[in-house]
Amino acid sequence: MCGIVGYVGNRPVVDILLDGLEQLEYRGYDSSGVALKLEDEIKVYKAEGKLINLRNTLKPHISEIMSSTMGIGHIRWATHGAPTLLNAHPHTCNCGNLVLVHNGIIENYKELREKLSAKGCVFRSQTDTEAVAHLVASKYAETKDLTEAVRLAAQEIEGAYALCVMHNDYKNTLVVTKRNAPLLVGIGEGEFYVASDVPAIIKHTKKALYLNDNQIATLTPDKMLLIDKDGVEVPQKIELLPWEPVALSKMGYKHFMLKEIHEQPDVIRNILVGKLHAPDEPIILNEVKLNKDTLKNLNRIQIIACGTSLHAAMVGKYLIESFCGIAVDVEASSEYIYRKTVTDAHTLVIGVSQSGETADTLTAIKQAKAKGSHILIITNRPDSAMAREADSLVPVNAGIEVSVAATKSYTAQLMAFYLLALYMAEIKGSVENSTMTSLKEEMMLLPQKIDQILANTDDVQKCARAFANTKDFIYIARGINFPTALEGALKLKEISYINATGYPAGELKHGPIAMLDETMPVLSILMKGSVYEKLLSNSEEAKARNARMIALTNSSDAKLVDLFEHILYVPDVQELFSPLIAIVPLQLLAYYIAEFLGKDVDQPRNLAKSVTVE
Ligand code: AGP
Repeated sequence: MCGIVGYVGNRPVVDILLDGLEQLEYRGYDSSGVALKLEDEIKVYKAEGKLINLRNTLKPHISEIMSSTMGIGHIRWATHGAPTLLNAHPHTCNCGNLVLVHNGIIENYKELREKLSAKGCVFRSQTDTEAVAHLVASKYAETKDLTEAVRLAAQEIEGAYALCVMHNDYKNTLVVTKRNAPLLVGIGEGEFYVASDVPAIIKHTKKALYLNDNQIATLTPDKMLLIDKDGVEVPQKIELLPWEPVALSKMGYKHFMLKEIHEQPDVIRNILVGKLHAPDEPIILNEVKLNKDTLKNLNRIQIIACGTSLHAAMVGKYLIESFCGIAVDVEASSEYIYRKTVTDAHTLVIGVSQSGETADTLTAIKQAKAKGSHILIITNRPDSAMAREADSLVPVNAGIEVSVAATKSYTAQLMAFYLLALYMAEIKGSVENSTMTSLKEEMMLLPQKIDQILANTDDVQKCARAFANTKDFIYIARGINFPTALEGALKLKEISYINATGYPAGELKHGPIAMLDETMPVLSILMKGSVYEKLLSNSEEAKARNARMIALTNSSDAKLVDLFEHILYVPDVQELFSPLIAIVPLQLLAYYIAEFLGKDVDQPRNLAKSVTVE
């Protein structure tokens, strides 16, 4: 992960770097740092923890550093080496003249470290990045040319990197390069910006160049030179970023997560606009570029994703198989990429990702693309690396999601799957007309049902208070809500650090039931439909082992009151749409437990919003 920024131009650089880093804080918050070019030296400032600590570190030096008009910055999510000051970026060579920031993982850093140590380099940190600083410096000692030094060093590096480099010999030059990590150059008037992601630069410019792998850009205030790995100049593909600067505000909510949970009804309404006008009209999904005959004859789909997006994918499998009768495999991207997968030109491969940058999913997508599959990407970031790989791009338009815990992007991904599955079913004619109309009617009612849940959260808050001090939590469900159990558990563990697990309820008796006693909460996602009675029996079995029972239900069944200590009611809904309704109280439950425990809800420990390392 990590985020990098850079600037070369004529304006004071400090605030540009700090504001840019603030926009990238979703990529990590273990430490941060900047390097600033002053008259005869480069000054490096670092701080452990969140960006605010770096701002405070810089305050006493402001008058001294305000004149600087070139610098680089970094926000870290620790991979190699603990999140300490020593391991914070920027990293320098031994004389301190060459300074760089890095996002990615250098896989051969041990070999490089040994080689460079043998040449006399002294390593001060445990990071993989420091090896690159020494390596580029050693190439610079030979060539006395920063661009050439970066180019030669890149040839010896294995792994993923986005690098931004400066040298004390150069008054106004930054050199950047990348491989398998995002990097873009923003183009201003007599100035250039460098960033891992658009939000860091969009306030300043909409003109940008996305660097391709192995390209090297040398930036001086009035010129960009772009070369390939052989040193040959290549054309510059400049794009206009389809973004408006947005002031990220909590709009009166205590945390971004709570605000984002409450945005869900509007997100769903927006998704439906232009795609579904009326229950008796067809779904419009022009984003799907597969021709209708191919769609009709598809017999295999693979969906690849990570984390919350993987849970949306699991619901997607259920929907596509139910509505279209096409076999769907779902796999965690990190597993997909390291085995012999049966993917070919006849397979539709769907990648799901909020950020569109998740390294595992991006790699998996590239592998599938190389095998000739049609790649359909469902993402909240239509400008992302994954979107650029897509043959069909289905944006979910949930708006920027700041909180590390995904909420509105999950419900938006579910909506994308509802639309896709029904769109395909219409083409295949696999769902009867009357059923299709009733499904669409239900789909149009979803936002107001979620509004209803959000209008009164008293019961969820009461339940959160009752269970906030528990050590473990079990979520059970069956069928289409098994992914809801996984997602509910993921939400709780990532923001409250309570050990929470989702199980298919029928599996309890094959092992997990041994854990149940009077200290263990079991939350049963008991939505009316094909598996209601079965799940009720599984809940009875858990109750018989003295577990503390909680129900999440749309049933008014009187016997629930005896079985469950807490009942969270949600509006009635057709079973196939129930994951979209059931997840909302679970998001709220996780939120209120974490909030009650005083946790850092929006930036939980050890996590980052965008996971750009494998
Ligand atoms: C969800 O709350 C997580 N923070 C995480 O699991 C996330 O969903 C995962 O890292 C995948 O990210 P993506 O959707 O951006 O690919």
